[in-house]
Amino acid sequence: MKSDAAILLTELRQDHRNMAVLLNLLQEEALRLEQHDRPDYELLLDIMRYMTVYSDAIHHPKEDLVYAGLRADQPNLADGLERVEDDHQELAELGSRLRADIESIIAGTAITRDRVLDDTKSYVHKLRQHMAWEEEDLFRRADARLDSLDIDASHLVATDPVFGAHREASFANLLHAIEHEAADAH
Ligand SMILES: [Fe+2]
Ligand SMILES: [Fe+2]
Repeated sequence: MKSDAAILLTELRQDHRNMAVLLNLLQEEALRLEQHDRPDYELLLDIMRYMTVYSDAIHHPKEDLVYAGLRADQPNLADGLERVEDDHQELAELGSRLRADIESIIAGTAITRDRVLDDTKSYVHKLRQHMAWEEEDLFRRADARLDSLDIDASHLVATDPVFGAHREASFANLLHAIEHEAADAH
């Protein structure tokens, strides 16, 4: 039987695959902006709402617990992992900045195209780089110590509103875009 830590790591990796899909969508919309085309701001807002209610609220705190568990287990083997919490903080800030841009545009406030483009690119770049680092370092160190890791993430159990079994209707734009992507891939 899989340990709780092993299940947690499986969930985290699945979240990364899901977030990679969303980052591709963000990048496509950024390309539209770059080509002076109007991006789908409702879709962008859905993506950034998901990043707030799921990635920032559930996914990243679980990873903070993995880091805390590794440090508690053998502090010297957790060297260099401190950045996980700083990265999460930075991502939350970049994400809320981008979400605020999008909400302002939808509300009719003038914001320069360059600003939205820069904020979208910064967010995509930072999150991709962060996930790659976690997969190469944080997750691997956790894999190596699954048997001794003590992680209680029971307060972070939440259904994923977009990729989970119960999809929330409020994410209709995003659900539609994901289905479209999946259909294109076949
Ligand atoms: Fe993370
Ligand atoms: Fe992550």
